[in-house]
Amino acid sequence: MKRRQFFTLSSASAAAILMSRCAASNQIKAQPTLSESYASNGSLLELSLDARQSQVSLGGTQANLLTFNGQIPGPRLEARGGDTVRIRFLNNLQNPSNLHYHGLHVPPTGNADNVFLSVPPGERLTYEFTLPKNHPPGTFWYHPHKHGFVADQVFGGLAGLFIVRGELDEIAEIKAAREEFVVLKDFSIGQNGQLLPPNPMEKMHGREGNLVTVNGEVRPRFSIPEKGLLRLRLLNASTSRFYRLSLEEHPFYIIATDGGAIAEPVETNEVLLTPGERVEVLVKGDRPPGEYRLLDLPYNRGGMGMMGGGRMGPGGRMGPGGMMGGGMMGRGNMRRGSGQGNNGETRTLATLRYGDRAQPEVPLPKQLIPVETLPEPNGVKRFTLNHGMAPGRGMIFLINGKAFKGDRIDTQVQLNRIEDWELTSTGTMDHPFHLHTNHFQTISRNQQPEPYRAWKDTVLVRRGEVVRIRVPFRDFPGKTVYHCHILDHEDLGMMGNIQMQA
Ligand code: C2O
Ligand code: CU
Ligand code: CU
Repeated sequence: MKRRQFFTLSSASAAAILMSRCAASNQIKAQPTLSESYASNGSLLELSLDARQSQVSLGGTQANLLTFNGQIPGPRLEARGGDTVRIRFLNNLQNPSNLHYHGLHVPPTGNADNVFLSVPPGERLTYEFTLPKNHPPGTFWYHPHKHGFVADQVFGGLAGLFIVRGELDEIAEIKAAREEFVVLKDFSIGQNGQLLPPNPMEKMHGREGNLVTVNGEVRPRFSIPEKGLLRLRLLNASTSRFYRLSLEEHPFYIIATDGGAIAEPVETNEVLLTPGERVEVLVKGDRPPGEYRLLDLPYNRGGMGMMGGGRMGPGGRMGPGGMMGGGMMGRGNMRRGSGQGNNGETRTLATLRYGDRAQPEVPLPKQLIPVETLPEPNGVKRFTLNHGMAPGRGMIFLINGKAFKGDRIDTQVQLNRIEDWELTSTGTMDHPFHLHTNHFQTISRNQQPEPYRAWKDTVLVRRGEVVRIRVPFRDFPGKTVYHCHILDHEDLGMMGNIQMQA
């Protein structure tokens, strides 16, 4: 079996492409990153992933980060339904680790997507699984998932894309679009290039770093073909930071969410992308040629203060909530923007510049891939997300009043059943709720039906909100987890075990 290996568009080996971009406008600078990509050879995707500390250049700053194979983000993996995936994982970190394949519909057991495996420092483990033949094409990702270390390891840099190609990529207009990958990730780097550890308050809020990167670069430029389409595959690989995205003078046309394609493009001016979520959008190159900024707009995700939820300032311009953002660790802490996150300011993430005219012009696709209507559920379960104080432990994060315990089964489901899960955040913070193994559809928020059907694996539950999701449990018996994807909250207990019975 041989492995094909090539480099991403923004890397050095794409010099030819970069040169043609430069020809169109000689101000475009090549900003090489070292992220590689690995594609399956038609039936097997095989590679080694070493998690280790490495010196990398992060938007011009030298930093000592946690990397897969020395790269930020980790290598991009590409496979198709039916392919076998074999990953030789080496843990060269100081702490136990493992791998999780976020959003892939594969078994949660054995050496597949099993988050209960633990690889001690210095040891290896080979992951192997086969994607179902009918696995939906889409934008997925991988990251460590060893409970208690997840936030540290992901914040340190350990994350990469896992692309499943298929039907969606074959639609003529999408095939003709220019494709870019956009991995959003924040870091907190000290003077000496070392990662800064969060203080307890930052952990509780969910740590955010003030160095915000796109594919490991600061404010990279993307090129959009004039009269053509740009396809952006966006991933929020941040530990806690939310991104409220908008592009100057251009609407987005959503074509896919976490679990793959939707039925037809949906126009929107803004996309809120919470940790773990992905979205694919098309952008039409129909504006006057020039440069347009991809923006991250203010958003208030709540805070931990006793008065948190009720004390949001007008327009969400206060701290991330109550005491915590505005007071105790507020603007005085310059070190990393002190958890104010993107709360009050608009940030430029990247710029888009018009390049060559598309030949021929590319219209928007009319139809994508139908999304099935799920039948009425066989049962309903309720999950309450909140936080509380544990004597001697400080703040803990809870689902249905309980903090995570490895050996306790919190939820049991029978395969071949469809369930509605009603998710509520009764505390003062927003929580992106994530379920492993099975995709779901969001049915309603506060009784309001969702505007369109889409497959998801992570859904935002805002403070005070009731979100109803519908999950078909069809295959793959075994035990896995659901949790808040603010990974500090996950490590602090906001996770549960689910047993799926054949
Ligand atoms: Cu992306 Cu359980 O995680
Ligand atoms: Cu996951
Ligand atoms: Cu949370």
